[in-house]
Amino acid sequence: MKFEDIKTIAVIGSGQMGNGIAQVCAMAGYKVFMEDVDMKFVNNGLATIKSSLDKLVKKQKLSQVDADGTFNRIKGTASLKEAIQDSNADLVIEAIIENPEIKNKLWSEANTLAKKETFFASNTSSISITMMAAASKRPEKFLGMHFFNPVPLMELLEIVRGHLTSGETYEIAKKVGEKIGKKIITVNEAPGFAVNRILVPFLMEAVRAVEEGVCTIEDMDTGCKLGLNHPMGPFALLDYVGLDTTLYIADYVYSETGNQLFKAPNLLRKMVRAGLYGKKSGKGFYKY
Ligand code: 3HC
Repeated sequence: MKFEDIKTIAVIGSGQMGNGIAQVCAMAGYKVFMEDVDMKFVNNGLATIKSSLDKLVKKQKLSQVDADGTFNRIKGTASLKEAIQDSNADLVIEAIIENPEIKNKLWSEANTLAKKETFFASNTSSISITMMAAASKRPEKFLGMHFFNPVPLMELLEIVRGHLTSGETYEIAKKVGEKIGKKIITVNEAPGFAVNRILVPFLMEAVRAVEEGVCTIEDMDTGCKLGLNHPMGPFALLDYVGLDTTLYIADYVYSETGNQLFKAPNLLRKMVRAGLYGKKSGKGFYKY
């Protein structure tokens, strides 16, 4: 299959990342099937897309006609078969829970549903691409497409090559990424890829500093915003990305590499155990 033949994209997962990916793919003109395990999640994802498109129209970054066209190109479904097989999807992008067993199971099923030419991409933030590629039984057609939150606004896309990803798959994914308006960086698979390799230790160190009484959460955020020109301080960003997601990445990279920079502080682990995930749960380091 050539890049020009890619017309339909199945996005598996309709959460924070999945609905953003569905939106940018549809904005670029692709027909999108956005799937999740329950229509309740799918409808939440569609509502988030609607609200994001409304914001872009209000800011005159998108016309109302294009916003309507984008929304109409997205079909929500709770059926994996509809999203991958009935849709005749050319590319499947997965953005489900960060759990290797659940991801492997999904890829094995996707392989039975997708036509043999279909490419597979995972939006995982750290899990081994090569491992999921093996589960999919089409390792040469598999790679990582790691988007950043909020997907409609963040320009970066990390394309992660697994051990057996073919040059053809890489070139096609790069063109798809460019078509959906992203700047690409290319990463050879390594735990945490490139950006989270830097971001996660930075976030862990911010929590450790506050744990040690170096400064308050608010002062660390103000310090990083004004002293480093970051758009958000580390605690606002932890809340935004999700404390559970960040802890998962830290634990995964630590277990794969033993790199002490990824050793999670106790405070972060306790907060996740208490259900304080950040913005999505209404409370993290800040209240929402
Ligand atoms: N769609 C469309 N518009 C949106 C939007 C969305 N999803 N989210 C926010 N906006 C709009 C807002 O409506 C607002 O519009 P306005 O200027 O007309 O009011 C504008 O964008 C700016 O938003 P806010 O005023 O709410 O806030 P900010 O100016 O702070 O911008 C931000 C928001 C883009 C999130 C900015 O704070 C930022 O860049 N933060 C850092 C994000 C970041 O680092 N992301 C990477 C996380 S790491 C990751 O994702 C990897 C993973 O593996 C962990």
